[in-house]
Amino acid sequence: MPVFFQQDIDHSTRLAIWKIEEASGFFTEIIGLQRAVSHPHKNLQHLSGRYLLKLLFPDFPLSLIQIADTRKPYLEDEKFHFSISHCGDYAAAIVSTTKRVGVDIEMTSQKVERISHKFISAEEEGLCNDLLSADSLSLIKTVTLMWSCKEAVFKWYGYGGVDFKKHIQVKSVQALSHNSFNSKITFKKKEDQHLDLHSVFFNDLCLSYVVT
Ligand SMILES: CC(C)(COP(=O)(O)OP(=O)(O)OC[C@H]1O[C@@H](n2cnc3c(N)ncnc32)[C@H](O)[C@@H]1OP(=O)(O)O)[C@@H](O)C(=O)NCCC(=O)NCCS
Repeated sequence: MPVFFQQDIDHSTRLAIWKIEEASGFFTEIIGLQRAVSHPHKNLQHLSGRYLLKLLFPDFPLSLIQIADTRKPYLEDEKFHFSISHCGDYAAAIVSTTKRVGVDIEMTSQKVERISHKFISAEEEGLCNDLLSADSLSLIKTVTLMWSCKEAVFKWYGYGGVDFKKHIQVKSVQALSHNSFNSKITFKKKEDQHLDLHSVFFNDLCLSYVVT
């Protein structure tokens, strides 16, 4: 069973990454038929994300998932807070019975590096340079980490209308080991909210999540 990574973040919050190696029938057998996604690989990503919700909490009521105008999936009664991400052959989900959550997985890519000026401010560029000069991360991993953290915050917020440079400001990044990082982020949409993000690299795959 290709659970690629699994962690209980706290007593009420669980996270997992799935490496997709199955055909769609494997997932639909467990979770039932979900909303049809026409692109076959995107469909697999979608199904495996839903599958993870049930893997983490077997009583997760998949059939009650609603989709907001912003495309955020949610449960009306908020029995579970959850967030899903997929990238290539991986899907990730974080589910909590008590806390708001956001997750992102991202493969390092030249594309993220190319558009980094769109989401990295001058202040954050300083943080990136610190990571580079401390040899903590390569440039491509540094920008992927920033992007992944901001995507996780975007999903945690869920209401859209977020400017990644203006509203999501990375204030510090601390290397805990060669592949594990804590970041402090200020989310400035209404009043300032201070968030702690955690990120882990599995080779070129970056996982970031926030729990509040
Ligand atoms: C909408 C967005 C979350 C979709 O991302 P994606 O590339 O498909 O990424 P992921 O695979 O990580 O996430 C997809 C999942 O996010 C969730 N999602 C979609 N919209 C969401 C939202 N508004 N809030 C929270 N979660 C959302 C869904 O669960 C979706 O999977 P599903 O449809 O299978 O359930 C995201 O890319 C986005 O719009 N980001 C903002 C981009 C932006 O403003 N950039 C500006 C800086 S340059």
